[in-house]
Amino acid sequence: MEITPSSTPPKKLSPKPLDGTEAELSKLGNNLVTKFHVLMRISQIYDSKNVALSQFINEFLETINTLIKGSGVLSLKIVKDDFFLNDQRLRYSVEGFTSFKYLSSQWKKRLIGEVIFKTVMGEEMLRHFIYAFINLEEGCEENADLLRKQLESHQITSIEVKPLKIVEGEEEAFTLQKEDSREVGKKLFFETIGTIKDVITNIKGNQHADIRKLKRLAQKAIHLVIEDESILLGMTMIKNYDEYTFNHSVNVSIYALAMGKRLGFSKKILTELGITALLHDIGKSKIPREILNKPATLSTEEWEMMRKHPLMGVEIVLNLKQLGEINPRMVVGVFDHHLMNDLSGYPRPFLKKEVSLFGRIIQIADSYDAMTTPRIYKKIPYTPEQALAIMLREKEVHFDPLLLKIFIGLVGIYPLGSLVLLNTHEIGIVYKSNHDPTWLDRPMVLLVDRDAKGGATKELIDLTDADKAGNYKWSIVKTLDPYKYHIDIAKYFL
Ligand SMILES: [Fe+2]
Ligand SMILES: [Fe+2]
Repeated sequence: MEITPSSTPPKKLSPKPLDGTEAELSKLGNNLVTKFHVLMRISQIYDSKNVALSQFINEFLETINTLIKGSGVLSLKIVKDDFFLNDQRLRYSVEGFTSFKYLSSQWKKRLIGEVIFKTVMGEEMLRHFIYAFINLEEGCEENADLLRKQLESHQITSIEVKPLKIVEGEEEAFTLQKEDSREVGKKLFFETIGTIKDVITNIKGNQHADIRKLKRLAQKAIHLVIEDESILLGMTMIKNYDEYTFNHSVNVSIYALAMGKRLGFSKKILTELGITALLHDIGKSKIPREILNKPATLSTEEWEMMRKHPLMGVEIVLNLKQLGEINPRMVVGVFDHHLMNDLSGYPRPFLKKEVSLFGRIIQIADSYDAMTTPRIYKKIPYTPEQALAIMLREKEVHFDPLLLKIFIGLVGIYPLGSLVLLNTHEIGIVYKSNHDPTWLDRPMVLLVDRDAKGGATKELIDLTDADKAGNYKWSIVKTLDPYKYHIDIAKYFL
């Protein structure tokens, strides 16, 4: 979980900003949401006097009191779909996803938008609070007031509760229309990252890895890609720095599946391609973390080791018995994914005349995702447009030109996630590429409010829209660097 600065300034209450490194804050925030989630669930099972509850209350207390001691006060609030901890936005991680969704839906049902703990908490106070909270009637607009009165009847004044603020325009038609598939996509995306993480961890520890689950997830992803590829393609914008390998494998798989769909692959072949892409870097599970995360240039020996990961991946895949009959396409795909179109790259092939189709597809998806993701040795990545420009320059030598063309058709001339300036002086994010190849330069764009640092406006426009005289209402003038504008692109795709 990453914490990024809030777009809404702190109001009356001014908690001290949380300090510490991003990773520490990330852990604390994750911990808080998870413990709150567990406590809410448990208290719906046991009555308030139950001793079994103490353990969970105390675990929650430990987390919040650490934060209260550090900042003087602790505020947890919901703004649109995000949680803010002392006015810093919490971005959920793979592990945090379920807790985040649960907590957010429970709060929203009860129309509670913010909880503020003003002093260090004790067990009894928290017990009263949590039961008063879960017993609130769903949809009652007076809930914040009722909860305050309940707490006051127990002489508790150091917990403040505020009602949920409904942000205008939040319920726009297009969000609702796509909400279901988008929710399915989000769940699938995070679940797949979690599963690939388990698989890699188990393989690392020479333990049993549940590959069947990966296959099921790949099949679900295919279903979604066939229905509307833009949903999962949008998820690839969520570049999670801490969990690079897992996030990267899922992104590569999404790109590969969308390309496979355009190539007219059958569902069987798409499933094989999806799994191959998910496992393409599995060989890295045998490479020490220090080498994988090394911020400096690798030594010759380290580089040699790195270059072995496709081959080590082949060994691992061949040993995955659960995949049943492993098609040679999959094994070759893993082997080939760093082989360039001119057969440079690694590992050196014996007697090979050309790179396999799976290998060529994954190689394009892999390069693009790696270039557009912040890494420990390159904190500011290439923008989608820069990455495509580099790839286009290197085509013929490095990439299959025809497949690259298909890939560009997929992400557009203005790739998904590009920040663009329109002729109307508005700024927007390329949200969905146009299915019709004639309109590659006229995608769907999500307008961004210039002043709000990353505040989602959710106004979706179609650049093919024209007025009665046939003039386009909007056109892209140029692309902009999101880092210069402090815009968190990923946020708009969540
Ligand atoms: Fe790789
Ligand atoms: Fe890779």
